[in-house]
Amino acid sequence: MIPQDQSKAARDIAGRARVIPVLVLDDAGHARPLAEALVAGGLPALEVTLRTPAALDSIRAMSEVEGGIVGAGTLLTPDDVRAAKAAGARFGVSPGATETLVQACIDEDLPLLPGAATATEAMALLEMGFDMMKFFPAEASGGAPALKAIGAPIPQISFCPTGGVSLANMADYLSLSNVSVVGGSWVAPKDKMVAGDWAGIESLAREARG
Ligand code: 3PG
Repeated sequence: MIPQDQSKAARDIAGRARVIPVLVLDDAGHARPLAEALVAGGLPALEVTLRTPAALDSIRAMSEVEGGIVGAGTLLTPDDVRAAKAAGARFGVSPGATETLVQACIDEDLPLLPGAATATEAMALLEMGFDMMKFFPAEASGGAPALKAIGAPIPQISFCPTGGVSLANMADYLSLSNVSVVGGSWVAPKDKMVAGDWAGIESLAREARG
């Protein structure tokens, strides 16, 4: 798969909802009920961060949930890409991007949403063929005003802002012409997962879906 196809595939997946939940799981036993709650709440594209020992098992378990599309976040190395693909991830997300990481995603046929935080990073990814990327860390990098400014000279790139995005500010991003989806962890708070409050998470998802 060449980057243009990868980028299109990532765009198609991201286009299924206005919010991609960013999930940090400490217990793979939470994976299935969590995915069911988020899908039932209207958020089918799920990003499981490869930041905990439970991440790969969580991707495996979530991949069996009907209606969900499970991807792997925090991809940093080719090994991460291979492990994510083997666990059943259907797309990848990375906080930044390197040629090595992009090549690994091409080799593994894994659609990628690569991260960029500046106009130069976005232009480098555009040169590789990506026209959709993650804007990370969104709030710390200037938030919606920064993305609006980048969109003036480079309107052909769409962004998924992630990092500090919440119910309170998601509309600021979604009102921009270069944003159709945001990512965030607020829909799956740790305390609700530990308490097994799946109904509470479903209602957070519903609220985020709007
Ligand atoms: C991440 O990869 O951690 C995302 O940027 C999530 O950020 P958030 O916790 O601020 O939503």
